[in-house]
Amino acid sequence: MEKGRFDNPLEAVLVGVKELFMRQTNLRPIQDSDRLDGKTALITGAKSGIGFAVAVEYARRGAHVIMACRSGIPGAGEKVKKLSGSDQVEMVKMDVSSLHSIYQLTKQLKDRKIQLDVVVENAGVTPPFARKTIHGLEEMFAVNYLSKFIFINRLLQDGTIPNALYAGNSRPVGESRPRILFTSSDSHRNASSIEFEKLGVYEDYNPTKAIKLYGYYKLVLNTFAVELSKRLNPNGTVDVSVFPLCPGAVRTNIIRDAPPLLKFALGGVFYLFFQSPQKATGPFVYLGAGPEVEGSTCRYLHMMAEKQMDEKVFDVEAGKKLWERSEEILNGIS
Ligand SMILES: NC(=O)c1ccc[n+]([C@@H]2O[C@H](COP(=O)([O-])OP(=O)(O)OC[C@H]3O[C@@H](n4cnc5c(N)ncnc54)[C@H](OP(=O)(O)O)[C@@H]3O)[C@@H](O)[C@H]2O)c1
Repeated sequence: MEKGRFDNPLEAVLVGVKELFMRQTNLRPIQDSDRLDGKTALITGAKSGIGFAVAVEYARRGAHVIMACRSGIPGAGEKVKKLSGSDQVEMVKMDVSSLHSIYQLTKQLKDRKIQLDVVVENAGVTPPFARKTIHGLEEMFAVNYLSKFIFINRLLQDGTIPNALYAGNSRPVGESRPRILFTSSDSHRNASSIEFEKLGVYEDYNPTKAIKLYGYYKLVLNTFAVELSKRLNPNGTVDVSVFPLCPGAVRTNIIRDAPPLLKFALGGVFYLFFQSPQKATGPFVYLGAGPEVEGSTCRYLHMMAEKQMDEKVFDVEAGKKLWERSEEILNGIS
């Protein structure tokens, strides 16, 4: 992998702090009228951090919230109910590093005839050293990217996310379109272009490379988002909205597995300077509930500023190749 804009975790964290202090907005503020009444929203990785805060915020705004988590069931859901004052909250099990677990949940949702209005693909990890999933894939690749390719495609094929392309159960004209949000990161800009022959091939790495890989897989994720949006909306009219976003630097437990010294140093910066998960929910509410994004797709927010993603994610050939390579990796999973 080529050299990125920054190469060590501390530098990356300091960039996050600088961006928080220099934060700008070109959007209207979030309002109480941004509601999700009557809508069903599924959030992955909702047991803690950003996903948990989004679950509270969506429940408070009237959504039926489905928290798809690998742990914390039912405790995290009970906390969301208490904090939001809503009882329309449920937890379902999904470990996104396991194909079986992903398909178990998609089947369950299909059998229940659930129709999702908003999906927030949020689960993410930053292991400092390479780890293998049960399928032998590198965990950061599997959790931060491939699981999203698999989960979203299956939800679309099943019609659990209503759509014309795969399921022919598009929402009637005049009704709001389903929205797929990806919790990404502005660090996608730091990554070099996608190395297709190496993608999905297990390789050891250390904490220095972990931070580069993190931005790299967010580039992969955003490239997928652009390609997905193109496939779902081929004629210029929007059938399903796809929105990647970066919440900015957020005080969560994302560095839980960092080596102790590094964790201590980064933890201090997280604690002192990073925004709370609750504060970071703005772009999720805007893109999940905001009326002005209806009928649009592929809009990218970095905190509460609408921006253009890095030009690499719009590379048409890269989008096609990524799709093919992802299918190839998926077909190779035993
Ligand atoms: N924190 C930031 O500054 C920041 C900035 C930009 C983007 N993000 C992105 O925000 C997202 C959420 O991260 P966070 O900061 O809120 O960290 P977090 O508190 O560690 O949340 C990550 C969530 O992902 C879940 N998860 C991890 N592996 C999973 C698996 N195999 N199956 C199911 N769920 C799994 C975790 O579940 P468990 O609790 O069960 O482990 C946890 O609930 C990530 O995609 C991250 O890349 C974070």
